[in-house]
Amino acid sequence: VQTWLVNGRLQNAISLDDRGLAYGDGLFETIAWRRGQPRFFDRHLARLREGCRRLDIPAPPDAAIADEIGIAAAGSERGTVKIIVTRGCGRRGYAWEADIVPSRIVGFDPAPAEGRPAAGGASVVYCDTPASCNPRLAGLKTLNRLDNVIARAELRGRRAEEGLMFDDENRLVGGTMSNLFVVRNRELATPLLDRAGVRGVMRDVVMERAREAGIACREIGIARSFLESADEIFLTNALTGLRPVTLCGSSRLEAGPVTATLRAALLECGVEECAA
Ligand SMILES: Cc1ncc(COP(=O)(O)O)c(C=O)c1O
Repeated sequence: VQTWLVNGRLQNAISLDDRGLAYGDGLFETIAWRRGQPRFFDRHLARLREGCRRLDIPAPPDAAIADEIGIAAAGSERGTVKIIVTRGCGRRGYAWEADIVPSRIVGFDPAPAEGRPAAGGASVVYCDTPASCNPRLAGLKTLNRLDNVIARAELRGRRAEEGLMFDDENRLVGGTMSNLFVVRNRELATPLLDRAGVRGVMRDVVMERAREAGIACREIGIARSFLESADEIFLTNALTGLRPVTLCGSSRLEAGPVTATLRAALLECGVEECAA
């Protein structure tokens, strides 16, 4: 059962005039609630603030969000926090009025959103649905996720946990709900998210831990041929941590030493999903 607060009040409805509903005019965050705390909360708030700045939406006060999460998640050890910020309610039409007030929605779901992932590695397939490119939105977790919704539907009836999405130049963007890293010759590569994709919180954490461990990491354009010559591949997501990929298209892979080093580093900073 999800608990929701809208602009600080416990309720489970928003106005039909909200631009989040009409146009996807807003942003969201999905945060792992573990041991009674929001994990990597500062990083999620930073991404939300950056998104608000880039979309010209006044960012909600951090303290209001923190208080409301505390109310929604009170008494729970584990679950998923969702924050949605929309530009607010307005009249018909894309233009917005100068005095528009953002809507702030905070929710808590005591069950992890994706369930507990199966033990072992993930199987991934290639999706036909392309990722939309727009440098103005690239990296942000906007409410415009229809590409991901359609791509995700491609997985129905297929034995795969995640689908990979490519842009209009056949460069990898990531999974439908995750970022992807490739290991080749003990070096990491991950898609440069300058045209599409979501810059994941767990992606940033992995890149920092890799740097500390002396593992080089490049953000580059990744073609399918590069994926097919990988030594190791893994996926990252704030809720599920770091998951090795053991089947990518028709290529079988093992969780190798770089994956193991990074999983251990994440476990050390509270990503309990990376326990063996
Ligand atoms: C499209 C997409 N990319 C990447 C991610 C991973 O982001 P994070 O690490 O912040 O969960 C998500 C998370 O849901 C996503 O939907």
